Amino acid sequence: MTEIYKGLAGVPVDYTAISKVNPETNSLLYRGYPVQELAATQSFEAVAYLLWHGELPNDEQLAEFVSTERSLRGLDENVKAVIDSLPTDSHPMDVVRTAVSVIGANDPKTADESPEAELEKAVNLFAKLPSIVSYDQRRRRGEAYVEPNADLDYSANFLWQTFGKEPDDFEVDAFRVSLILYAEHSFNASTFTARVITSTLSDLYSAVTGAIGALKGPLHGGANEAVLHIFNEINAQADQQGVEIEQAAHDWLTQAFAEKRKVMGFGHRVYKKGDSRVPTMQQSTLELIDRYDRDDLKRLYDALAKEVDEAKGIKPNLDYPAGPAYFLLGFDIPTFTPIFVAARVTGWTAHIIEQRASNALIRPLSLYNGVDERHVPGFED
Ligand code: COA
Repeated sequence: MTEIYKGLAGVPVDYTAISKVNPETNSLLYRGYPVQELAATQSFEAVAYLLWHGELPNDEQLAEFVSTERSLRGLDENVKAVIDSLPTDSHPMDVVRTAVSVIGANDPKTADESPEAELEKAVNLFAKLPSIVSYDQRRRRGEAYVEPNADLDYSANFLWQTFGKEPDDFEVDAFRVSLILYAEHSFNASTFTARVITSTLSDLYSAVTGAIGALKGPLHGGANEAVLHIFNEINAQADQQGVEIEQAAHDWLTQAFAEKRKVMGFGHRVYKKGDSRVPTMQQSTLELIDRYDRDDLKRLYDALAKEVDEAKGIKPNLDYPAGPAYFLLGFDIPTFTPIFVAARVTGWTAHIIEQRASNALIRPLSLYNGVDERHVPGFED
């Protein structure tokens, strides 16, 4: 009997030289470097360069890359016009997906699959995504587009374009760390989607829009938004019932488990002893909590993690500390997953380039379990 690996769990489908997830040692390497070391020392631009080129840039290479990235940040009027045409109650992931499609449809190099052209397209999307994500949040608040600021690095400019004011260094730093941690994670669902689309010899923009669709789901990228919805529910319950936040977290979880609901921001397909990225992100989130004097949030954050661990032994994943960090920085909850897109586009495009360089059409088998062969009237024996 042929065994089915539901969800492809535990099935290696190809080699990759981009990142290595090791659940045994709880480590994540980008091109061989531990992600914690990159988060402690590198700009997001340097990490993007590393993912695409395989090596960290030297000073000259970084300066050239940074200058290119800053020159590409602005949005063409036709992209802005399409964003403006979309309803403000649509999900921001739908807006990001559509904007990427529009950029692809307008790019004369869409069909050029040479590694140089693919890299150019990747850098173009990388540079433009902060403009798309920030503009979409602003227009929902009735605010105007903020032009990119070429004096600021990628992370600071993203916050500048979103909030229209220069962020503090501690804010830029927490945001930069989150982007680095979100950038790449081997054959996760959205990256695999991008590789499947690339394997048909389709173009990079189609692969990225497909990946955005996969990331939208709450079992994948959407979990960082869901964490804040859970926090809001628990806070509301504590207020209504006049109980301490720890008690409200306990009650909320008891009910969630009774209804067999998953707790978003916890658990992972690959890591079973805890997500390697959580300690680094948590440090940044706790720093934000401290700076903004939000002890109430810290109590809730700790209480829920403790309850889930005690009840099921399930540990937080990256979305658990990242969601509250984005909330504290001032992002609206539906913008959280689009930020993840801006970060992960680096990993996706590195995988698209790698897939193209050594392609095989990805086409698994299925085992049929429907009705036996039968015939329409007139075709019976
Ligand atoms: N809350 C409650 N129970 C969970 C859980 C969670 N977040 N994650 C896993 N479990 C439980 C399952 O209910 C299952 O229990 P059972 O064996 O009694 O049925 C067991 O742990 C295995 O879970 P399963 O969903 O089969 O594992 P998976 O490898 O397919 O799951 C995820 C991985 C990420 C899909 C899952 O942990 C999840 O849904 N997490 C919440 C969403 C999330 O945060 N996603 C972001 C991932 S980075």
